[in-house]
Amino acid sequence: MSFPQETARRRTFAIISHPDAGKTTITEKLLLFGGAIQLAGTVKGRKSARHATSDWMEMEKQRGISVTSSVMQFPYRDRIVNLLDTPGHEDFSEDTYRTLTAVDSALMVIDAAKGVEERTIKLMEVCRLRDTPIMTFVNKLDREGRDPIELLDEVEGVLKIQCAPVTWPIGMGKRFRGVYHMARDAVHMYSPTHGGKILRGEVIQGLDNPRLDEVLGSQAQDLREELELVQGASHAFDLDAYLAGTQTPVFFGSAINNFGVQELLDDFVEYAPAPQPRAARSRVVEASETAFSGFVFKIQANMDPNHRDRIAFLRICSGTFTKGAKLRHVRLGRDVKIPDALTFMASDREHVETAYPGDIIGLHNHGTIRIGDTFTEGEALNFSGIPNFAPELFRRAQLRDPLKMKQLAKGLQELCEEGATQLYRPLTNNDLILGAVGVLQFDVVAERLRTEYKVDCRFENVNVQTARWVSSNDPKRFEEFKDKAASNLAIDHGGDLVYIAPTRVNLQMAMERWPEVEFHSTREHG
Ligand code: G4P
Repeated sequence: MSFPQETARRRTFAIISHPDAGKTTITEKLLLFGGAIQLAGTVKGRKSARHATSDWMEMEKQRGISVTSSVMQFPYRDRIVNLLDTPGHEDFSEDTYRTLTAVDSALMVIDAAKGVEERTIKLMEVCRLRDTPIMTFVNKLDREGRDPIELLDEVEGVLKIQCAPVTWPIGMGKRFRGVYHMARDAVHMYSPTHGGKILRGEVIQGLDNPRLDEVLGSQAQDLREELELVQGASHAFDLDAYLAGTQTPVFFGSAINNFGVQELLDDFVEYAPAPQPRAARSRVVEASETAFSGFVFKIQANMDPNHRDRIAFLRICSGTFTKGAKLRHVRLGRDVKIPDALTFMASDREHVETAYPGDIIGLHNHGTIRIGDTFTEGEALNFSGIPNFAPELFRRAQLRDPLKMKQLAKGLQELCEEGATQLYRPLTNNDLILGAVGVLQFDVVAERLRTEYKVDCRFENVNVQTARWVSSNDPKRFEEFKDKAASNLAIDHGGDLVYIAPTRVNLQMAMERWPEVEFHSTREHG
């Protein structure tokens, strides 16, 4: 297959939803229908297999949250689907944010009983920044939920996006009988199946088909009337509006019963966008360009506790990656040979031979790669829009065994490279201060330090309320600033200078006193 064909058949996306709407279940079923797993349950099964080796995962399980994110690739029909998992808990929203910069479209999952929830609203805001095309799956129709028309109204009203129902549910809860596919004019009958069986229920062609009255009884006529209303009141699917991010096609189903997911997947691979152009600081890079380029959107330490590896996840924006390629690490201005990159086939990691735009490859990171780093064949590109937010919460790492200082510093350094937390080392003392956007992250880091680095530490309060990255175009004044404000300055894990303020007033005063110094609340990586 040629390079343009390989590029055109890629579909790279992520699922956005509020916790519990069914993201994990749908992921599992997509893999099932994609033939990537034999038995649904593998995603969760894999999680529990990991529990045996990592207490961090155990904590994840106990708290009912998912904090890891992974990449899964599977073929479906003649397409190659790359599904990027996003952590659901809000303390990890930065990670999710960055993952959404690496996709070409998103799938929004909504619980039919709950409608639009708070986390979904936030994630939609993120998608809107880049006009990411969104498909919607309304899940759990096997349970009593809200009226579908009302649900679509809520999506339109709250999320400010047009809804175009592609399938329409026939009843719900105990009376759930299937979905009607608008464009194909076909009813797909529901037959509940749990687990890994793929059961193709009856498909009845044509809304006027008498067979419909036979199997649905009075619900057939109800359906016809309801559809008339729906078709009159809602929008028809418009591919351009979907691709522009102003309209979302909506599907209904019950993921746990393997129902409605295949209809979704069929249309997804058909209509979802192929790899899109990406904005770099100097220019826009088209996926069709043959010179390789890509950016790192995520770093994860110790994915496999047996290998103690750190993986940088790189999204390919243009060109082909071939094993053994020499790439320019733009921020360092250095050419590096990549002898073995990883690809993520469902749950296995395999070595990449060739990868195309839209694909995610995993690079082994020995501490030199940062989130936001760009790799090219030589051009000095910098893909923009991957910020690191200034944390809101700060704690000092307190060791139980003072002799483990070296391991602690190493562990914190490596875990902070993942980007969810920031490490600060003050210039004037030996503290190790961790900054995070959510309080749960301290527990996660403490737990991972214990299991992955064998360091027992607690995080205690520290007199820091806010932090800003600092820079200046006036070298002389900057030196004076560094000297005078030394007790408030720290170096972060990326080697950048940060002002750490005990109070917001203190920060305000510093900003007024040093107008030549810029205080940044986000750091554009790279
Ligand atoms: P998440 O990743 O978005 O957090 O959601 P997840 O898939 O873990 O699903 C959350 C709960 O909703 C799970 O139940 C799951 O079984 C259930 N669920 C998912 N899809 C459907 C559906 O189509 N219908 C119904 N009725 N339930 C669904 P749980 O009891 O929390 O977990 P589990 O013990 O089933 O794993």
